[in-house]
Amino acid sequence: MIKSLRGMNDILSEDYERFTHFINTATNIAQKYGYHFIETPLLEETALFKRSVGESSDIVGKEMYQFIDKGDNDVCLRPEGTAGVVRAFIQKKLDKAGGIHRFFYHGPMFRYERPQKGRLREFHQFGVESFGVDSVYEDATMIMMVSDILKALGIGYRLQLNSLGDNNCMPQYREKLVEFVKGCGDDICEDCIRRLDTNPIRVLDCKNESCQALYKDAPKLINCLCKNCEDDFSSLKKILEDNNIDYEIDTNLVRGLDYYSKTAFEFVSDNIGSQSAIAGGGRYDRLVEFLDGRPTPAVGFAMGIERLMELIVMPEVSREGYYIGAMDEEAVSLVVKLAHKKRKTDRVIIDYKAKNFKNHIKSADKENVKYFCIIGSNEIQSATMTVKNLEDKTQRTMDLKDF
Ligand code: HAM
Repeated sequence: MIKSLRGMNDILSEDYERFTHFINTATNIAQKYGYHFIETPLLEETALFKRSVGESSDIVGKEMYQFIDKGDNDVCLRPEGTAGVVRAFIQKKLDKAGGIHRFFYHGPMFRYERPQKGRLREFHQFGVESFGVDSVYEDATMIMMVSDILKALGIGYRLQLNSLGDNNCMPQYREKLVEFVKGCGDDICEDCIRRLDTNPIRVLDCKNESCQALYKDAPKLINCLCKNCEDDFSSLKKILEDNNIDYEIDTNLVRGLDYYSKTAFEFVSDNIGSQSAIAGGGRYDRLVEFLDGRPTPAVGFAMGIERLMELIVMPEVSREGYYIGAMDEEAVSLVVKLAHKKRKTDRVIIDYKAKNFKNHIKSADKENVKYFCIIGSNEIQSATMTVKNLEDKTQRTMDLKDF
């Protein structure tokens, strides 16, 4: 039997209801914040992710579904959504047009990670990207949007915040950190040795406990910010406080993608095990320029839909629509005809098989319809049907012409 690939799931039935409830809720809120839908291809040139997410990141270094296509192009399945949206933004010359552009998207992302609970190889994100606003109010507003989405879904969270500095303060901090880590001697792990050459600040994110113990007294970026970054970070905290958004400062929050500067944030849940990040994002003011666009400030986030699925508190679903069943073979074609007419305005479920009342009502109940309608030879004779309201359990006979 052929099965789905490891770390790639089917979404159906109850999961699908949760999935669509999430998409509808998040879409609704994003639109209230002035965001417009964007769809970008699943497949892009590999160079796009190398240049944006960064060659030193695990995503690009180890996790890409990359291959040479029939036209000899080096392509890969997108591991995240930001790079594609930035490419589209530049390709459509919106960077040259100036002004503010806000997009939201959702869809599958692919990372060849070791699958475990909450960590898949194909997973779905809902994300937003805002271009053209350098004010930290936009960062705060975006965080409020994530908070609104999570609240609307009944999901509790902790918000972790950090600032990654900018071109002024980050290079100096990086030097200080490298000096400190080199002083730790040979005890650091192989990954950290590699990171020292590629992207030193990612050592702060090392999952190895002995490395973490060594870095306990490492210099903190938050104490090395330049005036501009420090002022922005203070404003961000103040805006969040003014809007009753609780946060924790996590000086080791560096994010797994290289394009960030200044604000970095993650929303975590304490109820889903070790893969606890349910949303992450931040500011990436240099990325548009880095991908050959006109310098444009930008900020965004993405939420992992599968990680949120089990946390979503589903609203009670009320019964909706009709089930029409035939009790005798000769009534089947009439059922199909009535359903075709009724579907212009309502949800209608039918069965092509003639069955008795009891069997039909079982199927109708499973489909959660409000009205159960049944037609047999007798009803055909009298041009009527039996209709039962499955909510208040009342039953009556009605003329077919009134249906
Ligand atoms: P990210 O932190 O890599 O950020 O991913 C965002 C979210 O996707 C995570 O918080 C997590 O919920 C989910 N996620 C990531 N990897 C997996 C996986 N293997 N299985 C299941 N869920 C996963 C980004 O992707 C950035 N593009 C976010 C962003 C947008 N930054 C600015 N704009």
